[in-house]
Amino acid sequence: MHIQVKVGAIQEQEADAIIVNLFEGAAPGGAAHAVDQATNGAITDLVEGGDFKGKAGQVAVLYPRALIPARRVVIAGLGKQEDFSIEAVRCAAATAIRKARELGAKTVATILQGAGAAGLTVEAAAQAIAEGSLLGLYNWRGLKTDEDETGAIEMLSIVVFKNDQLEAAQAGAAVGQAIAEGAILTRDLVNNPPNVATPSHLAGAAAQIAERFGMRLQVMEREEFEALGMGAFAGVAKGTHEPPKFIILEHNPDPAAETIVLVGKGITFDSGGIDLKPGPGMEAMKSDMGGGGAVLGAMHTVGMLNLPLHVVGLVPATENMPGGSAYKPADVVKALNGKTIEIINTDAEGRMLLADALSYANRYTPAAVIDLATLTGASVVALGKGMAAAIFCEDEQLRTQLLAAAEQTHERLWHMPLYPEYKEALKSDTADIKNTSGGRADGVGTSAMFLRQFAEGYPWAHLDIAGVALSDKDKPYTPQGATGYGVRLLVQFLRSRTPGA
Ligand code: BES
Ligand code: ZN
Ligand code: ZN
Repeated sequence: MHIQVKVGAIQEQEADAIIVNLFEGAAPGGAAHAVDQATNGAITDLVEGGDFKGKAGQVAVLYPRALIPARRVVIAGLGKQEDFSIEAVRCAAATAIRKARELGAKTVATILQGAGAAGLTVEAAAQAIAEGSLLGLYNWRGLKTDEDETGAIEMLSIVVFKNDQLEAAQAGAAVGQAIAEGAILTRDLVNNPPNVATPSHLAGAAAQIAERFGMRLQVMEREEFEALGMGAFAGVAKGTHEPPKFIILEHNPDPAAETIVLVGKGITFDSGGIDLKPGPGMEAMKSDMGGGGAVLGAMHTVGMLNLPLHVVGLVPATENMPGGSAYKPADVVKALNGKTIEIINTDAEGRMLLADALSYANRYTPAAVIDLATLTGASVVALGKGMAAAIFCEDEQLRTQLLAAAEQTHERLWHMPLYPEYKEALKSDTADIKNTSGGRADGVGTSAMFLRQFAEGYPWAHLDIAGVALSDKDKPYTPQGATGYGVRLLVQFLRSRTPGA
């Protein structure tokens, strides 16, 4: 779908559908009022008759029958005005445009939702509409061979009514498009079956990003990262025949720019290894590269926006498989920073890859390192499915910035503690540390404490995204399946770190 911004009156647009909105319990104001007048009070009629209340998620369609050039008017509910946030705009834009697609519309025009009475800046509103619309229309077809009956909208026009709004709206829409493109890349990587989205496939996606945006790319093969001393990552990769890759993507290596390293867990399939997972639900473990996918998606957007930061993406990628050469409980491996790790459970593999990637991050003397990983079932139990990612971060400034980005993007984060006692549970008789305490109750805290032993020398945040990488439910701009969680959050954070922002 192409997005354009133009100046005009919404009721004068020629389109298969125009989109306006209404707050709950409010009379049509602004653009909705103009459409109401041009259609002899059709919206007032709908509201007064009780057919449409303006609740969040509610949508209605009117047929103005040549009173205006557009064939349909789609009205989206924004919910109560006192509960309004930018999230309401993303949701309303998505709900309305999905309705328009369902009705077969090819061309759609929308008002700049949220910029009127609701008080968002023109730029923020345009960004939210572009993001909500593109992400809401996401339609994963995968490898289906039957005909796709979902229509496709060709053009979305965002209509502003004043000339002096044009530039800001265009800028906002461009940012929204760049962010949606990154998140969609992530969704595709996660939704793809694990025999397609292999470590080589992730390296290929990284190569495309590098090529398109002129980034530096290095992909280390098994022999190379083994020789370098990444014994923890190499240990996990021992059981698979699918070639593992350590992917390094680097944007803008300007020594004057601040360096931020993003690390993503890239387990393209987590069978559990020798500590094999139970069969039911194992297919969801194709999403165990959700962190790595988010890092690649964010790098794509970083490239599109050409952010003036030095951003490094690290994605250790491998399958976790059982087999004759697989690593096993009681094995001891040596990580890149020299620490020895005793394997208690081969299914606690994510932290092994992250241990080496976090040690590797040190060579960039970064201003901050953020890792994203579908790391523990315990984080899902703690916060609930689809609710929030757990953030562990002892650096107050970094944590505050990430929490602010979470608030703005509605990719929620909940701050968790790193109590020193968690470390007790990781004491080993034969190595410096065990890869898990073996306990259920302390699973999320001990996993973060384990990582902390390798994230030394820089401000660091760990985001456990196990509960949010996949969605069981259809949400307004997140259809069921891969969510692309992390891309919008990371990009918002990076933009907030950009000089002059
Ligand atoms: N990839 C899983 C965690 C996971 C669980 C992701 C549910 C998404 C949804 C991870 O590698 C794992 O298996 N963790 C174990 C750790 C345990 C063995 C210490 C877990 O959480 O049970
Ligand atoms: Zn696992
Ligand atoms: Zn895993």
